[in-house]
Amino acid sequence: MEKTRPDGIDLTEWDFWARPLDERHAAFRTLRGLPEPAFFREPELSFVPMGPGYYALVTHADVVEASRRPADFCSGRGAININDMPADLNEYFGSMINMDDPRHAKIRRIVSRAFSPRMIQRFEDQVQAVAEQVVEEVLAKGGGDFVTDVAARLPLKIICDLMGIDEAHYKTVFDNSNIILAGADPEFVSDDADQVALQLLQAGQTLKDLVEELGRRRREEPTGDLTSALVNANIDGESLTDQELGSFFILLVVAGNETTRNAIAHGLHLLTENPGQRELLASDFERYIPGTVEEIVRYASPVIWMRRTATRDTELNGRDVKAGDKLILYYWSANRDEAVFTDPEVFDITRDPNPHVGFGGPGPHFCLGAHLARREISVMFRELFRRAPGIRATGEPDRLLSNFINGIKHLPYTV
Ligand code: HEM
Repeated sequence: MEKTRPDGIDLTEWDFWARPLDERHAAFRTLRGLPEPAFFREPELSFVPMGPGYYALVTHADVVEASRRPADFCSGRGAININDMPADLNEYFGSMINMDDPRHAKIRRIVSRAFSPRMIQRFEDQVQAVAEQVVEEVLAKGGGDFVTDVAARLPLKIICDLMGIDEAHYKTVFDNSNIILAGADPEFVSDDADQVALQLLQAGQTLKDLVEELGRRRREEPTGDLTSALVNANIDGESLTDQELGSFFILLVVAGNETTRNAIAHGLHLLTENPGQRELLASDFERYIPGTVEEIVRYASPVIWMRRTATRDTELNGRDVKAGDKLILYYWSANRDEAVFTDPEVFDITRDPNPHVGFGGPGPHFCLGAHLARREISVMFRELFRRAPGIRATGEPDRLLSNFINGIKHLPYTV
């Protein structure tokens, strides 16, 4: 592939990510129209050497193809950072999302057995109970910040309950996960990049200490929670070490918490901005909610990208790729690819088919929590539509400054 960059678009600059959403989407439309993926320099970080740069994969076809060939396009050199991080740091923060087989397969096997349909079923009742409680409080309050009052509460409580973390630690989990996914947002992290690195390490360590201590207790006295299932050997004699448990928890908090929170917040914003779609959903909730959830995830794309690295000289949809080339898979661009989605800018809860890649493309890293996330979003909106049918956003979302997470920090609402 040629190393070309279009004029006026630099995905590496923070200024780009601070631009209004429409302008950013227009820039990605331009990138999708180019004959080849554009090439960008890497962000400059003082604690790692400057890397070679990256290609932006922006079409649905390229994102899908790179996802389905993990042997050629690997995750093990880092899936959640553009810069190459030291290998131990990748594993520390990313657990299996930054691993390739056979290690990835081993961890995913242990974890997905614990995420069995039975385990998730147990949590479906919990999801319902928490949603009811949240809506009860919303009705009493009448309005405020939808992110803190509603969107953040369900995913946080579910992840903590799933792992067996008590309520006394929710705030610690919430604050530290905000730091890890803060991007460059000054509400959560310093504006000095070296300082940010320290804040990230500190936040990771706090979460790890919390869960490792719990793991030790669950090894001695197992309960029915996920931590007990992960640290005690399963029928094949496999379990996670303390180190693996700590990193998995960081991944779970990061992957399962903010993503779902943002999807719920985007959901209220989108349903407020599109009253016709909202009326349609209200007219037959059970019929339209599955399509609504998929469309929220497509339209909002809470995770903007993941990275892959070429393991050998190969080709991708007819273009040469060299060993070591970095590819950034822009899900939020693939999700608006006009070659696949008719009127991609339109929020349409009846879109069918809706082959979005918001939970990742087809491949071994496809979101482990997709089923749980869909349940959480559906249950939350069912309760809101049933008990607070007038709920709506009353202003524009206050957006997170990040190139990785399409986040909403605050969203005013009324019932
Ligand atoms: C709307 C909410 C969510 C979105 C948009 C989302 C999106 C994603 C994406 C894009 C990936 C990467 C796929 C890849 O690299 O190919 C991923 C992986 C993952 N997600 Fe989710 N996710 C959501 C909710 C959740 C929840 C609720 C959990 C857990 C409770 C979760 C756990 C994970 C894990 C563990 C991985 C790594 C899987 C692996 O590497 O094998 N996610 N998710």
